[in-house]
Amino acid sequence: MAFPESRPRRLRRTASLRAMVRETRLSPADFIYPLFVEPGAGQRRPIESLPGQSRLSTDTAVEEARRAWDLGVRAVILFGIPEAKDATGSEALTNESVIAKTVRALREALPELVVMTDVCMCEYTDHGHCGVVERGEVLNDPTLDLLARQALVHARAGAHVVAPSDMMDGRVGYIREVLDDEGFEDVAIMAYSAKYASAFYGPFRDAADSAPAFGDRRGYQMDPANALEALREVALDEQEGADIVMVKPAGPYLDVVRAVRELTDLPVAAYQVSGEYAMLQAAAERGWLDLDRVALESLLGIKRAGADMIITYFAPHAAELLAK
Ligand code: PBG
Repeated sequence: MAFPESRPRRLRRTASLRAMVRETRLSPADFIYPLFVEPGAGQRRPIESLPGQSRLSTDTAVEEARRAWDLGVRAVILFGIPEAKDATGSEALTNESVIAKTVRALREALPELVVMTDVCMCEYTDHGHCGVVERGEVLNDPTLDLLARQALVHARAGAHVVAPSDMMDGRVGYIREVLDDEGFEDVAIMAYSAKYASAFYGPFRDAADSAPAFGDRRGYQMDPANALEALREVALDEQEGADIVMVKPAGPYLDVVRAVRELTDLPVAAYQVSGEYAMLQAAAERGWLDLDRVALESLLGIKRAGADMIITYFAPHAAELLAK
């Protein structure tokens, strides 16, 4: 049928009609809220390039998670900022790490909250790279052991999900094996499977002071030009035992989100990264965009592309908007 028999506008005439034919719906339960945690107490140090986000201490992270929980957000992902950084990121590897402490506090305060942790070395190393560096190179295999030890610290503290974001080859299988050997076969792995070497991570690196001291991450993160390679990465992570696969960033890579959705039966996560959030915030501050509307529209687009869950700094704000 063609016009004039067919008139798609018939189903757009009223809000109730539109609601009946709506294909995609956002829910606060779709969101995973990223929190930056550092040692200390009572802190909320605002992150300038991420308006509305702060570097928290364990106690304020619990407050922030509770605020999100009360709005219907069911999961957080934690990023640690250590007291001191060194060549091997040793602060990430102790059971008293800021992440371990915060996981324990969250599990106690909010028993039903899903606690996820980012597993990576770059926030903890003085060179800011995601693994062991020798002669200017990030070494793959020696890094696996550090990642697995960090994941183990998080699992012991009570994390439900560990999320390696380093992009070393073989890390999902390696971490799975170590977790299983230590009796943590119930702890899930959310793999940052297709993580691109993106300029959209800028504000995050300010927040975590984790910009590489030399070079860049193109030797391990993916080339933004590649989509087929993302499918190979996802297939490998699936074989290695990933429970959830992720595409990151989200907005500029919606084709990849869709392709991954069609490739795998695993749950697909997408990360709306710091730069995506900062862009919308900055334009809204200037009065150029309506923040509430673009926040929800950007998240809806990611879900429509095929993501089951979205890591987003908008989590509590968007949950609030959805409740209205
Ligand atoms: C750690 C990590 C990064 C992000 C998540 N985990 C930074 C990076 O790879 O440089 C970025 C998240 C964001 O920009 O919101 N490797």
